[in-house]
Formats: sequence, structure tokens, C-alpha cells
Amino acid sequence: MSEPIVLGIETSCDETAVAVVEGMTIRSSVLASQTDLHARFGGVVPEVAARAHVEAIRPLVHQALSAAGVYSDQIDAVAATRGPGLAGALMVGFGFGKALAWSLGKAFYGIDHMEGHLFAPRLEFSDYGPPAVVLLASGGHSQIVHFAEWGTYETMGRTIDDAAGEAFDKLARFIGLGYPGGPAIDRESEGGDPHAVAFPRALRDRPYDFSFSGLKTAVVTYLEQAKERGTLPSRADVAASIQEAIVDVLVDKTFNAVETTGVRAVGGGGGVLANRRLRERIASEARRRGVEVFVPSGALCTDNGAMVAAVGVQRIRDGVEPTAWPADIDPGLALGT
Ligand code: KG4
Ligand code: ZN
Repeated sequence: MSEPIVLGIETSCDETAVAVVEGMTIRSSVLASQTDLHARFGGVVPEVAARAHVEAIRPLVHQALSAAGVYSDQIDAVAATRGPGLAGALMVGFGFGKALAWSLGKAFYGIDHMEGHLFAPRLEFSDYGPPAVVLLASGGHSQIVHFAEWGTYETMGRTIDDAAGEAFDKLARFIGLGYPGGPAIDRESEGGDPHAVAFPRALRDRPYDFSFSGLKTAVVTYLEQAKERGTLPSRADVAASIQEAIVDVLVDKTFNAVETTGVRAVGGGGGVLANRRLRERIASEARRRGVEVFVPSGALCTDNGAMVAAVGVQRIRDGVEPTAWPADIDPGLALGT
């Protein structure tokens, strides 16, 4: 039997992303980033995001189909993110995807954005799959998920306040680096010493949960005092030390989960997993323990349409009924039990 061909649409935040995936092979993946639009506000403005999705979605769908060399009537289904995310932004991709599927007489699947991130490694590693522990860290969510089979996810730990990406973004703004903060701190850290300042690692007593809100206060206080003392470290040293504090906690807790569950595979997804230091640290910790790593390339960690399409392919393979036509977006959708 031929492999399913799915058109995936992602509009949960500030990227309009569309892809065509056949089986688990990416035929095309295109994206219109809104970074420049939001940069002058220092963060994503929901109304601006929704309008930009409206403008970008139709030409991007055409672009994805034509880059894939696929006619719209050749696809088996349309998959679109239904949550979590910004309501106005979600509505654009979800509504467009549903209307497109309806007009073509094809199936429609509403997809959990975080399941998309969890699934992304599958597009690069054919042997990625359960049982595994996956670190999901993005701008809005941070969690550690254990799964013993596709489709059934146990959230072992999560952030109790800010997401890891949010911490990167807020702290980058505070030390005068632009938006989005994650990539800016990643770059700035290159020439810095990760051990220059020992910022606190919160929630040491909880094996799988994170807390990042205290880090901001710690950085603010430290820099004020250092300024008074005249011992202000370089911005590269501050950036590298902030990055190390966030990465340390993410790596520690992920491998706590690996240890407890006894899995031999660790995966990663979400924009923060594009961080070079985090990727290095996960790889070296996994090597030390003889665990296999499934963290895809940066473009598959940050938001993309292919991860959404891939979950759609899996739904078809599993014989799952399409999403009912009256279904709506769910901005508060939470992955796992
Ligand atoms: O998954 P994603 O693309 O969008 C959401 O679902 O939120 O994640 C975006 C987040 C932002 O907070 C961004 O600063 C962060 O991922 N990010 C990074 C890096 N690239 C993106 N954080 C650290 N290092 C990076 N290289
Ligand atoms: Zn995301």
C-alpha cells in the first residue's frame, strides 16, 4: 500500500508553517516567520500574529504543494494545529485547513502542537519511538514526557511557572539582546564562560519539575550588585551563565526521568532544543549512560508544518477516525496525563 500524503499546517504562535509529508518523508516544508514584525515589541503580539497568518497562509499552502510536486487532490488528509497556542493564531490555520480538507473531500485531523514536537524526531530517525523519554521545551511549554506507545503520553514533570523558552526570551531582553531571546543568548554565549556566574538552579528537591521565574530575579539582583561593586562581568559571560543555569536543570531532570523509567532512548523537541549547549549536554550525558539520542536538526525543533503532518500520517496509519467537522481549536490543550 502506498504511504499516506498529508498536508500539515502550523499557526499556533508566530510562524506560519506548511509542509507536505509522505509516509515519514518530508516532501516540502515552508515557513513565513513573523520575527521581524514582533521584534520591535520585544515579544509576540497576538493580534499582529493572527493578521500575519491570514496574509501568509494561502500562498504558503500553494508553495508547499508546488515544492512537493503534489496536486491538492493527491493528498490524503490535511492536519492542522488545534492547540495549545494563541487563540486568534490557531483559528487561522485550523479554519483554513478544515475548509481546505472539506472542499477537497479529504480527511481532516486537528493536532496537538506538543505532540508535533514530540513526533518531529521521527522525521529524521526511523528508529525513534517508544519506549522513550522526551524533553519538550518551547516558548510556552516545558515538560518531560515518557511514552510506552505512540499516542499515550505520561507527563512526568513540567514547569511550575515560566517555560524554558520564555526564560531565555525574558532574560535576553533584560541583558539587552534582541527578540527572540533563545537564539540571541545561544550566539552571545559562544565567547562566554558558562561558569562565570553561578546562578541558582531551582527545585532541586523535585526530580522532574522546573521553575525558571526565580532565575530572572537572581540575574537582576546579581547584575545590580556587580555594577555597584564595579565587577560587572562581560555580557558574553552573563549570557553563557544564564544559558548554563537553564540547560543544567533541563538536562538533570530529563536524565532523572530516563533513569527512573529505565528507557534507552531520549528525544527532544521544541524551539529550546535548537540550543547548541543543550544539544551538546544531552548528547554527552546520553553517551555516558549508553542511551540513544533523538534530537532532530534545529529547523525541526522550532515550529514547523512537517511535525504536524507527521502526526497526521501516524493517525492514518493507526486507522484513527478524522477529527469531526464541528471540532474547534483548544488554546489550553495539554499533552499527556
Ligand atoms: O517551539 P517554538 O519554536 O515555538 C513555540 O511553540 O513556542 O519555541 C520558541 C522558543 C522561543 O522561546 C525561543 O527563544 C526558543 O524557543 N529558542 C531557543 C533557541 N532557538 C529558539 N532557545 C534557546 N536556544 C536556541 N538556539
Ligand atoms: Zn512549538
